[in-house]
Amino acid sequence: MKLLVTGGAGFIGSSFVRLALKDGHAVTVLDALTYCGNLANLDPVKSHAKYRFVKGDVRDGKLADELLANKEHGAPFDCLVHFAAESHVDRSILDASPFISTNIAGTQVLLDAARRHVAAGGKLRYLQVSTDEVYGSADDGKPFTESTPIKPNSPYAASKASADLLVRAYHHTYKLDTVITRCSNNYGPYQFPEKLIPLFTTNLFEGRKVPVYGDGMQVRDWIHCDDHSRGVLAVLAKGKSGEVYNLGGGNPMPNLEITKRLIKATGRDESSIEYVKDRPGHDRVYLIDHTKVTRELGWEPQVPFGEGLAATVQWYRDNEAWWRAIKSGEYLKYYEQQYVKR
Ligand code: NAD
Ligand code: TYD
Repeated sequence: MKLLVTGGAGFIGSSFVRLALKDGHAVTVLDALTYCGNLANLDPVKSHAKYRFVKGDVRDGKLADELLANKEHGAPFDCLVHFAAESHVDRSILDASPFISTNIAGTQVLLDAARRHVAAGGKLRYLQVSTDEVYGSADDGKPFTESTPIKPNSPYAASKASADLLVRAYHHTYKLDTVITRCSNNYGPYQFPEKLIPLFTTNLFEGRKVPVYGDGMQVRDWIHCDDHSRGVLAVLAKGKSGEVYNLGGGNPMPNLEITKRLIKATGRDESSIEYVKDRPGHDRVYLIDHTKVTRELGWEPQVPFGEGLAATVQWYRDNEAWWRAIKSGEYLKYYEQQYVKR
């Protein structure tokens, strides 16, 4: 396939690009390189013959039209895979504006470009990379299925849910060939160190405390980013038009359990834990049922959590220069205003 991939310089987007190229697909990345976009994430593929990079914003409709039409950028594409987003819940609580703009308006701009392209005789499948957070919190202990009602609780989740609804509307109204994936919490190499696992791992390496929100008993279902990427590839190739597919790791676990595993893996002790004020509106439980994608497309997560987590900790150990470059300057200012001691 020839793929136009937005957000390919981010954490999961770059995992997807590395895997797609390895599988023989051609990839053009469109990425604005915001605070979390990092070309170093694409270093392993930068000389690949089938890889191109374009710096640009998904909210730029003219650029999207130009990319979809221009052979020099790799057109004609078979699929547009939309990973680009503002992705951090805590940031959305501090300021929702960039989330509304990039996640909702950005999706609408890309959908319109796809629609124009198809109206002009082109062919294109549009894949929206969404999240299990659109379903809200599984407080009743029932895993989310694709027919669980959308009940987003954070501004981030609301922006992703809104984007999903636009995708649904463009499929219904314009018969655009769309698919949506909703995945659980990802971990793995190249994750920006503001998210739980890379933040805690690198803090522990540095001998710093790890800020556990509230009582630390919130449950997340962890999946390796490469399993997520393989799921996106399966849905792209074989997913039914107009459908939603849940992707999950089958590893639901309280944050405190993850914290203790990371403490052990880095050789520290539990005095590293600092309980801090809880995140406002913090979702208690995410549980995801991915039987539909397994039944229909044969996808299953492959990376056992224990092995994946150990390899991830080792990756951060081996790639200190990568995360040290990030944990400085602007990012630190954000970090320091964010956490309030309890
Ligand atoms: P990330 O924050 O690491 O990367 C986002 C990428 O998008 C960056 O490269 C950034 O530069 C780019 N970007 C942001 N705004 C842009 C804009 N306006 N125009 C062009 N590029 C822009 O995010 P991630 O964790 O890799 O998440 C990727 C996608 O997967 C997101 O859509 C997210 O909602 C979804 N998702 C993430 C998780 C998770 O656990 N991280 C789970 C499920 C779904
Ligand atoms: P995060 O990685 O931000 O992902 P999400 O909010 O999308 O699930 O957080 C994962 C869990 O870890 C979530 O319950 C919030 C919690 N958390 C902490 O306890 N401390 C932290 O410093 C961070 C970043 C997250």
